[in-house]
Amino acid sequence: MSYGYFDDGAREYVITNPVTPRPWINYLGNRRLSAFISQNAGGLLWYLEPQSRRITRYHYIPAPGDRPGFYVYVRDRDSGQVWNPHFAPCCTPLDRFECRHGPGVSRFNSTKDGLGADVTYAIGRDDVLLVKVALRNVSPSERNVQVVSYVEFGLLEFIREIIGWCYLKHHIGFRYDPAVRAIRYDYHVFEAPFAPRMVFGCTAEPSGWECSRDAFIGPAGSLERPGALQPGNELSNSELPLGGHGCGTIGVDLRLQPGETNEFAYVFAIAGTWAETDELLRRHADVPAVDAAVDQARNVWLSRLGVLQVSTQDRPVDRAINTWNPLNSLITLDLARIISTDHMGLDGLRYRDTTQDAHACANIDPEFAAERMRMVFAQQTRDGGGCFSFYPCNRQPTSDTPHRSDNTVWQIYTMENLLAETGDLAMLDEVIPLRHGGEPSIYQHILLGLKHVYERRGPHGLPLLFDADWNDGLALFGDPAAESVLTGMQLVHSCRLFSRLAARLGRDTDAAWCDAAADELSRIINSGAVWDGRWYRRLLLSNGKHLGGSACRQGSIFLNPQSWSVISGVGAGGRGATAMQAAFDRLDTPLGLRILDPPYKGIPEPEDPPKGSSPGTGENGAIFCHANTWAIIAECLLGNAERAFKYYRQLIPEVAAETAGPDRYRREPYVYASTIVGPASEQFGEGGISWLTGTASWMHIAATQYILGVRPTLAGLAVNPCLPRHMCAVEVRRRFRGCTYHIVIDNAGRGSTRLTVNGGPVEGCTVPIQQSAECRVRCEC
Ligand code: GLC
Repeated sequence: MSYGYFDDGAREYVITNPVTPRPWINYLGNRRLSAFISQNAGGLLWYLEPQSRRITRYHYIPAPGDRPGFYVYVRDRDSGQVWNPHFAPCCTPLDRFECRHGPGVSRFNSTKDGLGADVTYAIGRDDVLLVKVALRNVSPSERNVQVVSYVEFGLLEFIREIIGWCYLKHHIGFRYDPAVRAIRYDYHVFEAPFAPRMVFGCTAEPSGWECSRDAFIGPAGSLERPGALQPGNELSNSELPLGGHGCGTIGVDLRLQPGETNEFAYVFAIAGTWAETDELLRRHADVPAVDAAVDQARNVWLSRLGVLQVSTQDRPVDRAINTWNPLNSLITLDLARIISTDHMGLDGLRYRDTTQDAHACANIDPEFAAERMRMVFAQQTRDGGGCFSFYPCNRQPTSDTPHRSDNTVWQIYTMENLLAETGDLAMLDEVIPLRHGGEPSIYQHILLGLKHVYERRGPHGLPLLFDADWNDGLALFGDPAAESVLTGMQLVHSCRLFSRLAARLGRDTDAAWCDAAADELSRIINSGAVWDGRWYRRLLLSNGKHLGGSACRQGSIFLNPQSWSVISGVGAGGRGATAMQAAFDRLDTPLGLRILDPPYKGIPEPEDPPKGSSPGTGENGAIFCHANTWAIIAECLLGNAERAFKYYRQLIPEVAAETAGPDRYRREPYVYASTIVGPASEQFGEGGISWLTGTASWMHIAATQYILGVRPTLAGLAVNPCLPRHMCAVEVRRRFRGCTYHIVIDNAGRGSTRLTVNGGPVEGCTVPIQQSAECRVRCEC
């Protein structure tokens, strides 16, 4: 079944069949007020974070799912028929359906029996959700129509709503205020951490309203068939001054002559005072003002996506790099793993996840990445360790356990990239207090983090695993002296990078410490305890056994230590290449590389990790997309352009969806899924959690910095591609420190790279920092 297509000119994905295998969503927002919205306008609105600032309701568990959302009902007053331009919840068959998800804006364009409805959703610079409606009469006769909105208000605190609704429902109230043509949501919940003013208004004169969900739905009704819209019934102008299940329902009656279009908008504003909400309504009081705000929302996104644009002639590659992957990365940095159709909005920002999410965003939106990194550093503890996760609003850790051994190894990767992007080394001197006192600079934070991992090592001298490393699936392993090969390799890489930075700043003692630590760890990793003959093992256990060796019945090879042996340089001298060959032979599938093989089944031996995940899913043998990104980088570092590109291309969401079949894959074909079920399962090919995944950031790094080879450095813009042979002519436009670089790559598989800048040759693979606004780079490779 086909569900849609990419409109590259508009940079939108167009869904033409409303019944997708799962909700296919988009995110709207200005980083304060945010929403997600599906192809059926199912969705959720929140302010800053959805745990205690959730404004509308979305049901995760009951069936049917993906309800409610931001609904528009069209009621044909002549025929009595009721339909939604977004198909659900009425599910009245439409003559035409189109949902366009694009950066910052979602639009519906549907027709039914001679009426056309365009509905546009966006959140602009102001904290306002805009729902612009345009209704056209494309029939030969006059039409009488009522357009009716529906959003469902919940308690802002999700958990308190579940636990204490019966009491707290009287701590809220809803009234229609004719002076501003809006429903006021009055929130006075006892001890609420956040109690804003909220108004749901309309630019047109209402013909009726409901503040009460139950009045709208009616005694035997449902959102599919609301009582208030059934023949003979009218909106009852209900209010709920003493509280209850509130909704934002405003009806607008339109009489449309043949060919006539009428436009208006619903405006949902959130602010600290009524004066401010009413000012927001005034600012969006007419259609031109709403249109301007929608354009502004889109333009903000487009300018953020403009940093790097490529033309390879391979459409899925261009789309991914130009639009969807950076968009995916920005959304993931903003929302971590907190809220989506999978995540219910109760988690915080994970320390190591956010650090990695900021990596690609350091290039796309450096200020945003820097802001998030400051939040991460502020969570570091006195002993240099990180925490598992923390809430973005109150900046409190969600809990101090479990302890991940890799929390602080990622900081240098992201910071190095960020410093290279901005050139602002002074950021390293910024002081950010530790969570329990102490005022180190960012430079010291990073070093403290490395020492923290180095000082917590096991009997072989490798970092202790603690509750897990990057791989959550190794959690609760239960061996307090288990050691992580992966964290060891990552520490080597971090130390090498930090040593370079320290040497540049003249801090030779730190550089020497890093080099010594990296050398020592590399030696251990290359000992017989870790090198298995054809690949590197995964964990060393205190009983002398290990995970990830050829003699293991299950989990005999893990992907990550193979790719990180190359990235860290530990596998220099051929071992890394041998290990990556083993990964290819044993782990590759047409949909990507499995994280391990064979998957664990049952709990046969104490040293097998707990098997929460069924074989072939999650960390137990799925194609873990995040881990695939490092295999791409490793193959580029080995110079295996063909294999790197194969690994990259096969996981581009639209390509993976096509290979698996959209009904098998199920997920959005425009953003990454965290996993794809592996071949050990009959559900091979099914996409896991989409949108919010560490895949987004690292995949963008793999594509732009390794395959295209365009990488910022302190000295300039490195251009050193690793392109497959068939991609002979590639053009890249990159904004970097005030200059736009127009790069033309002539790829003839020469095996070395030669650059000319504005016609003149340069030494090496780095274009020095340019003072001009534009420069032309020719790259022969
Ligand atoms: C999920 C988690 C991340 C973890 C990864 C592998 O993506 O968010 O923290 O590293 O799974 O287990």
